[in-house]
Amino acid sequence: MRVAIIGQGYVGLTIAVGAAGAGHTAVGFDVNEDLVTQLNAGKSHIEGISDSDLAGFIATGTYLASSDPSVMDGCNVIVIAVPTPLDADRNPDLSYVHAASDLISQHVKSPALIVNESTSYPGTLRNEIAARITGVEHLYASSPERVDPGNTEWGTKNTPRLIGGLSPEAVAKAVQFYGSFCDNIIEVSSPEVAEAAKIFENTFRQVNIALVNEFAQISDALGISSREVIEAAATKPYGFMAFHPGPGVGGHCIPVDPSYLAHVANEVGVPATFIKRANEVNLAMPAYVVKRVVAGSDGSVKGRKVVVVGVSYKSNVADTRETPAAAVIDLLREQGATVTWHDDLVGTWRGESSSPLAGADIAVVVTKHDDVDVNAIKACGYVFDCTGNIAGVDGI
Ligand SMILES: NC(=O)c1ccc[n+]([C@@H]2O[C@H](COP(=O)([O-])OP(=O)(O)OC[C@H]3O[C@@H](n4cnc5c(N)ncnc54)[C@H](O)[C@@H]3O)[C@@H](O)[C@H]2O)c1
Repeated sequence: MRVAIIGQGYVGLTIAVGAAGAGHTAVGFDVNEDLVTQLNAGKSHIEGISDSDLAGFIATGTYLASSDPSVMDGCNVIVIAVPTPLDADRNPDLSYVHAASDLISQHVKSPALIVNESTSYPGTLRNEIAARITGVEHLYASSPERVDPGNTEWGTKNTPRLIGGLSPEAVAKAVQFYGSFCDNIIEVSSPEVAEAAKIFENTFRQVNIALVNEFAQISDALGISSREVIEAAATKPYGFMAFHPGPGVGGHCIPVDPSYLAHVANEVGVPATFIKRANEVNLAMPAYVVKRVVAGSDGSVKGRKVVVVGVSYKSNVADTRETPAAAVIDLLREQGATVTWHDDLVGTWRGESSSPLAGADIAVVVTKHDDVDVNAIKACGYVFDCTGNIAGVDGI
């Protein structure tokens, strides 16, 4: 099949390479021309895809990046993988999905299967995508992406994939396409079920992370280690699932997707109270971290040199979207500390560059990448660890 993937970020590039690997011809369309140039030069910008794999597909003509939307015309399958962020009021921002749909409407004149992989609330495929695309009778399916960047155990091939379509023909074609590079396809009765399943999965994580973050504060006040309690509780072979506390939630999914569910809940008149409370708890974690750091540093960080270790939102990835490190740094600066950060994977961020670990009085570990030396962290005077990876220091 000839496949166009709109958006060549974490999700779109992963699908493009999966499709190319299965023998399809993949065209990665992106509005970011610099990214397109970089990809066509065989340089991947995401962790799970190597430069050599990308260069191999380019050399055999099975992958090409383009910023010309006319490349989509004549494709059998068009996958939408564009951002679905929140706007300034923390409401769903579907402008990228609308823009992608409008491009399809303008440029794709032969019938295709249109699949949406962007995460959004139930009804998006039907009302926000299919309803906007006029002039051609396309097939429509929803197959929300479940990629977990940096996860080496679960990838596109072995993570079960949900598919729901607007017609049986759309489902059949989507199953045929995804079945060529995914091991386990699960058909659901409608695109709304697939869309809702994706945001419910991430809401489940958001709420449980908030619960464990609140529990960590309770157990610290009680003088018990929350991590030891969680380990103990996890010995129960049924009915318990371990989540671990941290400095908040980051990335494009967990802090964002539940608000999509809250938005539709509000529209149908059902209060999404868990989501609201979980957001509050998670967003308050950086302040809790800073309060603990101040308490652990003899009551003040004023004039102290603090290094924040790891500013991406999770270990071994360079993604800083919604990272709680931003609030931790800002709040430490408000307390009068001189704050630098160390994260060679990220390199530059918010107009600042990664600094060496050496020379700081205090280290606050927000994210622990595998290649960061624990002894170098411990060489800083006082260490506060938000990750549970460093034995014998303060932390949550
Ligand atoms: N990153 C993840 O781990 C992950 C996991 C599951 C689902 N998702 C969802 O997948 C979707 C995409 O996320 P992502 O992480 O790949 O985003 P991303 O920001 O990494 O990539 C999106 C790409 O889309 C491009 N783009 C924006 N508007 C465009 C347009 N009109 N036409 C063509 N290209 C356009 C951008 O330039 C960018 O390169 C989101 O809905 C997200 O919630 C992401």
